[in-house]
Amino acid sequence: MNEIRIDKFLADRTKYSRSEVKSFLKKGAVRADGAVINDPKQKINPDAQEITLNGKKIHGGAHIYLILNKPEGYLCATEDREHKTVLELVPDELRHKDMFPAGRLDIDSTGFVLVTDDGELAHQMLSPKHHVPKYYLVTLARPFEENYLQSLADGITLSDGTKCLPVQAKQISEKICLVCLHEGKYHQVKRMFASLGNHVEHLHRTAVGSLLLPPDLPFGGHLEIFHKDILQMLKAESFSVMCEQIMSAFSSYLINDRR
Ligand code: URA
Repeated sequence: MNEIRIDKFLADRTKYSRSEVKSFLKKGAVRADGAVINDPKQKINPDAQEITLNGKKIHGGAHIYLILNKPEGYLCATEDREHKTVLELVPDELRHKDMFPAGRLDIDSTGFVLVTDDGELAHQMLSPKHHVPKYYLVTLARPFEENYLQSLADGITLSDGTKCLPVQAKQISEKICLVCLHEGKYHQVKRMFASLGNHVEHLHRTAVGSLLLPPDLPFGGHLEIFHKDILQMLKAESFSVMCEQIMSAFSSYLINDRR
């Protein structure tokens, strides 16, 4: 990134307006490599200098990528009048106006949500052409039946006649299974199991592509990742390898549903 005015940089990279940024500058709350900056017109180079606001480092790279462990009750949206949004889980010093959740999880679903300001990546992740696989631990109301595996592999027809792509699945316990989706229709997992005569009680997204939700990330927590991790994420791994990784990483979740 080239040199840029400090007030513009902070207004672009944080949730604060230019006038709020100006008052932070006046108060001496902004530093470049440790030295206080007061002048909003001063130019800085975010790639070469460490910029802090109230002591917190402001990310200067081209794009930001955060994995969130979404708790129940949060909406995958940038704003909403009624509900809390996943952007409220992003700490102030990392939050800025161009961020959005790449993909949706229902308000009552939990787990892996990527929040970014990289529109191109989001398009790649969500486009049917690339179909980055998404893995869900599914808790059912009634026992998983063996015949589900074939029906899911053949492609379920939803109640409105929509045909789903084949889904790989593995039964993990009496009422818990792991499913891997290559598309993202509205309420897809819930509607697929409804078509099979069962009911989804809870969904936890554990992986996207070959990137696992860090199992020690608490609900509401975030982890900043980098472009190289995203490239890794987009390289799909086989279902059996992902199953093994997910089952070993989420063994405690499977034992005592941590919701
Ligand atoms: N399928 C659903 O039904 N809900 C989700 O949140 C994700 C996939």
